[in-house]
Amino acid sequence: QTLNGSETGRKRPEYVANRISDPNYVRVLDTTLRDGEQSPGATLTAREKLEIARQLSQLGVDVIEAGFPVSSPADFEAVKQIAIEVGNEVQEDGYVPVICGMGRTVFKDLERTWEAVRHAQRPRVHMVLATSEIHMQHKLHMTRDQVIENAVAACKHLQSMGCYDIEFCAEDASRSDPAFLYEVLGAVIAAGATTLNIPDTVGWSMPHEYSALIAGIKANTKGVDGVVLSTHCHDDLGLATANSLAGVLAGARQIECCVNGIGERAGNASLEQVVMAMALRGEETMGGLWNGIRPVHIYPASRMVSSYSGMIVQPHMAIVGANAFSHESGMHQDGILKHRETYQIMTPESVGLPKDTSIVLGKLSGRKAVSSRLEQLGFGLSAEEVNDVFKRFKLGFGLSAEEVNDVFKRFKALADKKKNV
Ligand code: KIV
Ligand code: ZN
Repeated sequence: QTLNGSETGRKRPEYVANRISDPNYVRVLDTTLRDGEQSPGATLTAREKLEIARQLSQLGVDVIEAGFPVSSPADFEAVKQIAIEVGNEVQEDGYVPVICGMGRTVFKDLERTWEAVRHAQRPRVHMVLATSEIHMQHKLHMTRDQVIENAVAACKHLQSMGCYDIEFCAEDASRSDPAFLYEVLGAVIAAGATTLNIPDTVGWSMPHEYSALIAGIKANTKGVDGVVLSTHCHDDLGLATANSLAGVLAGARQIECCVNGIGERAGNASLEQVVMAMALRGEETMGGLWNGIRPVHIYPASRMVSSYSGMIVQPHMAIVGANAFSHESGMHQDGILKHRETYQIMTPESVGLPKDTSIVLGKLSGRKAVSSRLEQLGFGLSAEEVNDVFKRFKLGFGLSAEEVNDVFKRFKALADKKKNV
C-alpha cells in the first residue's frame, strides 16, 4: 500500500510559529496523556507518562498534550518533565514536538500550566471554556458576555506571561448556538489564540453535522484564516473517527486523538484509525490531505499504552486489535495465500506488527493454510503427510496459533522418532 509520511519519504513541512506552509498538512495532537488518562481506571505514573511521550514523539505526533497540570502536583511534575525532556528532543525527521498542557480559563490554571510547559522548545497552553447554553447555565453559571470576557482575558494573561501558542477550546461546541460560537471564536482570535478546538464533547454529532459546523466556522468567523481549526471528537455513538475526518474535509487542520481511542466515557477518536484512514485514502479521497505520523510505530505505541493504562484493546479493534490482520476462514486464507490484497488493505508490518501474524489456524482453517504454516516452520512434508497433519490438526481446533504451532512441532518430533525406530 502507499503510505504517506515517512514511508514515502515525504518530509513534514516547515513549522514556523504554528503556521505550516503546506495547506494540505494535518497536524496530529495526541491527548492520550490528558483525555486518555481521564478514562476510568487508566491512571499513569510519571515514568509511564514520560515513556509514552517518548513513544509518541517517535511516532511523529506534532503536538503532545501531556496533561492537566493544575489537577495535581504529580501531573504538574509529569508535564514539566515531558516538556524538559521530550520537548527538547529532535524527532527522526528533525522536528521537535509541541508540548501542550490543558487548563481552564482561570488565571491560576493558566499560570500553573504555563509553568509546566514553558521548558519545551515549543510550549502550548490549551485552555477550555464551554460555549453551549446547557454548560454555561448549569455548570459555569455564566452569561454569554461573561464567557467572551473571560476567554479574552485568559488569552491576554497567557501572552503577558510569554505564551504565544494558545489553543482555545469551546467545550461542547457541537451543541452550542453557531452564531454565539462565531462571536466567541472571533473574539479569542483577536485576543491572540492561534488554534481553535471545536470539540464534539459528548459525541453527539453525525459526520455531516460536524462537517457543517467546521464549514460554518470557516465561513463566518472573523480572522479564522489566520488560525488552525482542530477536531476533538468523542466516540459515544461510535462516530469519533468519521467525525474527525469529516471535520478535516471541511477545513480543520489538526486532529485530536488518543492511542487505542481511549478517553472519557466511550473514548476519543483513535489515533491509529484517523492516521491510517488518511495514509491509505488521503491522496485519493481527501484531496491529498496528509499527516506526519510514521505508521510503523503505531503498534508498539498501542501495546505500550494498553499495558501501562491497563485498558485492554478489544480483539476486533481496527488496526491494533489482535484480530485486525487475522484470517481464519479457509476461503479467506486461500485468498490471502494466493494474493495478500484479496483480504488485506494494509500489511501488518506497515503498522509495526511482526510479519507472519496474519494466518490464524483455527477450526475454519483450510488445508492450504495448514500446509503453508508447516512450510514456514520448515517441515517440508509430502502431500500425504500434510493430509495426515491436517486431519490431526482439525482435532486441535480451539487452540491458539502458538499452541497449534506447538502441536505441529510435537507431531513432527513424534513422526521423526517413529521413522528412526
Ligand atoms: O471533550 C472535550 O470537550 C475536551 C476538552 C476539555 C478539550 O476534552
Ligand atoms: Zn475530550
